[in-house]
Amino acid sequence: MVGIIGKKAALTAALLATTSLAQAAEVEVLHWWTSGGEAAALNVLKEDLAGQNIGWVDMPVAGGGGESAMTTLRARVTSGDAPTAVQMLGFDILDWAEEGALANLDAVAAEEGWDKVVPAALQAFAKHDGHWISAPVNVHSTNWVWANKALLDELGIAQPTNWDEFVAALQAVKDAGKTALAHGGQAWQDATMFDGVILSVGGVDFYTKAFIDLDPAALGSDQMVEAFNRMATLRSFVDDNFSGRDWNLASAMVINGEAGFQIMGDWAKGEFINAGKVPGQDFLCFRVPGSDGAVSFNSDQFAMFSVKDEGAQGAQGEMARAIMSPSFQSAFNTVKGSVPARTDVPNDAFDACGKQGMADLAAAAESGKLVGSVAHGHANRAAVKNAIYDVVTAHFNGEYDATTAVEELVNAVEAAQ
Ligand code: GAL
Repeated sequence: MVGIIGKKAALTAALLATTSLAQAAEVEVLHWWTSGGEAAALNVLKEDLAGQNIGWVDMPVAGGGGESAMTTLRARVTSGDAPTAVQMLGFDILDWAEEGALANLDAVAAEEGWDKVVPAALQAFAKHDGHWISAPVNVHSTNWVWANKALLDELGIAQPTNWDEFVAALQAVKDAGKTALAHGGQAWQDATMFDGVILSVGGVDFYTKAFIDLDPAALGSDQMVEAFNRMATLRSFVDDNFSGRDWNLASAMVINGEAGFQIMGDWAKGEFINAGKVPGQDFLCFRVPGSDGAVSFNSDQFAMFSVKDEGAQGAQGEMARAIMSPSFQSAFNTVKGSVPARTDVPNDAFDACGKQGMADLAAAAESGKLVGSVAHGHANRAAVKNAIYDVVTAHFNGEYDATTAVEELVNAVEAAQ
């Protein structure tokens, strides 16, 4: 009798332990993936974790580029209630690591051999003081153009191969009474176009001198005046209602044939595929003309905040492991529009734009033409990034002419350092 009771008690205790383990195996994820394409990609992650019994507490903060998400994060951490896992970009990750806020992922990284498969350009943001502090989920790049193929065919417009052809193509769409350039007037979207424009004006050398080295001569150069002139040209092709529009609504204008082109990172492709569109057939993807092999990248990573609870720590490790698995990287990135954050994932499952993205990334890394996106926090710390945003946006909205914008840029970047 006593034996049976003892067995029962042991069973109950075991069940309780399992239950509490299951409950503890949960991550609260702060992210800004709220558009249709982004949500579809996020579901791939949620389902992958659910399959491994890792619970998901959703903490979405809408706003492309993640500025609002970062403001919410700061408030949560300040009030002593950090989420366990946070979508983060570039220098923001390093800033949080310097504050000592992030968990150490060395154990899972060593078990899974991350050192060998994650490209150096990503490790620069995923490691701090030699320790892994985040798990890169993808590589996006910003210097892309998205076009409605039927509209271009109807108007007899060929895919532009240089800046002048691009401007002529925009003009032809405008002349046909359509919106030439779908755009949302938000600082991060203006800055995203600026990434591509900078590359189109002076290639990787100019981009690096101006925005990585922050060389005042490059920032104040005639080439920079030309870059702002090109931004003004682009401004002349947006519609009257562009101000404040979300990026995915601008993508929708190209998807439904209301507009010809959008300059946007390859998360835009997530919107096209989510709408059932096929690259090459319904839409075109090509680099901002004049990019000349350059790729301005940003990588979404999940940084794990230091937590005391062992169950939560375990879930963080499992989430990091899941994110970095080759099969997940393929399944997720084919939906998100990005490319894998590891070099050993086959391109079979990717569509034409994805295959091009993977090839461009590898070639750019090889030839020294891979640069961090200014707009998405991979070129500078937030203070400098925001200073650049302010000038680019003020100019785009007609507050400055190109010469004044250049002067403002030199001063703003200097003050922000
Ligand atoms: C970027 C991010 C992408 C995409 C985009 C628009 O900063 O890296 O994953 O979400 O913002 O929201």
